[in-house]
Amino acid sequence: MNSKTTNICCIGAGYVGGPTMSVIAQKCPNIKVTVVDLNEERIAAWNDDDATKIPIYEPGLSAIVSEARGKNLFFSTDVEKAIDEAQIIFISVNTPTKNYGKGKGMAADLKYIELCARQIAKIAKDNKIVVEKSTLPVRTAEAIKSILENTGNGVQFEILSNPEFLAEGTAVSDLLNPDRILIGGETTKEGQLAIQTLVDIYANWVPIDKILTTNVWSSELSKLTANAFLAQRISSINALSELCEKTGANINEVAKAIGMDSRIGPKFLKSSVGFGGSCFQKDILNLVYIAKSYGLNEVADYWEQVIIMNDHQKKRFSNKIVQTLYNTVASKKITFLGWAFKKDTNDSRESAAIYVADDLINEQAQIAIYDPKVSRKKILSDLDYLESRTYKENSKNVASFDNPYDTCAGAHAIAILTEWDEFVTYDWARIYDSMQKPAFIFDGRNLLNKSELEKIGFVYHEIGT
Ligand code: UDX
Ligand code: UDX
Ligand code: ADP
Repeated sequence: MNSKTTNICCIGAGYVGGPTMSVIAQKCPNIKVTVVDLNEERIAAWNDDDATKIPIYEPGLSAIVSEARGKNLFFSTDVEKAIDEAQIIFISVNTPTKNYGKGKGMAADLKYIELCARQIAKIAKDNKIVVEKSTLPVRTAEAIKSILENTGNGVQFEILSNPEFLAEGTAVSDLLNPDRILIGGETTKEGQLAIQTLVDIYANWVPIDKILTTNVWSSELSKLTANAFLAQRISSINALSELCEKTGANINEVAKAIGMDSRIGPKFLKSSVGFGGSCFQKDILNLVYIAKSYGLNEVADYWEQVIIMNDHQKKRFSNKIVQTLYNTVASKKITFLGWAFKKDTNDSRESAAIYVADDLINEQAQIAIYDPKVSRKKILSDLDYLESRTYKENSKNVASFDNPYDTCAGAHAIAILTEWDEFVTYDWARIYDSMQKPAFIFDGRNLLNKSELEKIGFVYHEIGT
């Protein structure tokens, strides 16, 4: 199959599959790339004539989609046809944490992956390379292989692990200039050939020395480990932020001072209200579950502490709001600026904002929310997912507005949950005038300028100072 790849497909048109395939299509004009999904609404949005209406907000993505779509990039719900035609099939479906049965709350739910494998086995009439793109627990490839071999019709399958390291909000630049591409495959001759086929695709735009090949299990474990290390840095700095608040040290100064040690490095040391996103918590829980399943209890406990600290950081933030507002927020308007788990994305999976809002609603606060990219519908479905109260009760406690000034008017306090650039540029004096006094700001991202806000009259609290 080497260098003859003309047709690939990707199952799952989400935050990973959509951007990744768009960039592959743009960089490999001779390969037909088809992205399929069961979700008709999502596919229709990817096909919207107005490329700014695509379902995922990522800077730079709509331009790439409009350039390649209809030429060699296609979005479709016809999963069977796409599988049949493709030489390489990427699996990029969601693998959420299981919310039932064995491993509930920890293990990854592989039911969508299994469904894909069964569908590929049913359709395939010629040899295929199947690529795991979704983050998967170690040894998932083995399960996929077993399904394909036992239900297939004599067709040869090679399974590769090719984890995605893009971060949301910077997906396009991460895909165009990755730190590395990781491809894991079997050590057999066929396995090595399959690896080379995938290397040839990435080599169209990624320098060859950045393309790393390993065995399948190393590749799968590296993905979990990379996310666990990144999250660990955030929990480490967040743990110290609480100590700073007690001692008079300043977390921003501490982070700068330690980050200048080249062995530590400056990135991922930004103290915050807590990390969110679809990957960090899920992948660490997965790592913990895997360690436990091998009886490695100390290893499991070590990594679990990263999650415990993150939960504590979110809780600490909501507690601080309640305490500062004279121990009651009942019926008070608290404004949230930001709902997404980070800036430049419309994704709110596992966003700290959800948990902080849930705590404050328990305290009977009225939450007013403004996020430049997240809809009220999404906000309510995020809260509903926690099952803390009925949908109707959540709706009563949550208001959303389409501009920040109305969202802030009359509020007792503003909480910054996402570091959107535009928040910095607001007319803060105007906001101050429209609020209850004292006017509090709880900056969960250390985003705003403390001395300027204090000059206006705000009582300003940030993390770790
Ligand atoms: C350390 C700090 O590096 C230094 O900045 C501080 O001023 C004093 O403490 P030191 O203890 O002299 O310095 O040596 P270091 O190189 O940090 O190694 C400490 C231990 O960690 C050694 O036993 C070393 O073998 C071990 N180590 C280090 C590892 O096991 N793996 C590594 O990747 C690095
Ligand atoms: C992460 C990994 O970075 C990426 O490589 C992997 O492919 C998927 O998971 P993502 O979750 O999209 O990407 O975003 P990331 O930038 O890692 O941020 C995750 C969370 O950590 C966000 O809530 C962010 O606000 C928070 N964060 C990040 C901090 O609180 N402090 C930091 O210093 C960095
Ligand atoms: P990620 O962040 O991993 O990309 P998403 O939830 O954004 O996760 O995207 C995964 C997509 O996979 C969803 O749009 C979902 O509809 C799709 N999907 C899940 N199972 C299948 C399947 N068997 N066939 C096709 N699409 C699927």
